[in-house]
Amino acid sequence: MPVLVSSPESVCLPDSEHRAEYRALGYTVLADLWPDALSAALEAEALERWPHAEYPSGGPRTPIVEARAPKRQTPVACGDVLSELHAALTPVARALSSRVVVASFSAYGYYVGDDRVLLHVDSDQCDVTLLVNALGTVGPLHLRHELIGLDNAALGKFESDLDWDQSAGTRVHYPPHGLLAMAGNVLPHNRPEHAVDGINAVAALCYKSLY
Ligand SMILES: [Fe+2]
Repeated sequence: MPVLVSSPESVCLPDSEHRAEYRALGYTVLADLWPDALSAALEAEALERWPHAEYPSGGPRTPIVEARAPKRQTPVACGDVLSELHAALTPVARALSSRVVVASFSAYGYYVGDDRVLLHVDSDQCDVTLLVNALGTVGPLHLRHELIGLDNAALGKFESDLDWDQSAGTRVHYPPHGLLAMAGNVLPHNRPEHAVDGINAVAALCYKSLY
């Protein structure tokens, strides 16, 4: 069964099954949304932008004790292809969330050496977060429904606890030629550290609700 149906305006929208899943679970996975050529363009742009990547000045920060601190930060870069995709996917974000959201922020995040993501919720710019595997391969994201309602200060206490199981939660892989959609500022998420080869990039596309 195809993931997408075409609206009268020729904008591909998620079908009712995926919209229902997003409403019920706060996330869904939409594979094969776009042609190989777009994935190739994202890959090329992510690689081209890598020398320009910088550490973000803002964004969510999970407070964590030194013993569990990550070995590195995640540098980010923006890009024209990514910006176009960001705008084009606005109807998808609206259909999933049933909210009037607007494109707020997009960037490639780079993982070199390891792919760890500290447990966090996204910023208030991310009522809907779409994640796309742009370059290379990283591990699945771990979604933590049991921790919904906690802010980053509280989530940091879990990351700081040496006995906390980083590998629990619902593991979701980024699909080929598509995206993981989630209520990023509500649903806590993390990725346990594991070694990765080469330069890897995940594109994050955020949408903020107007109301
Ligand atoms: Fe996030």
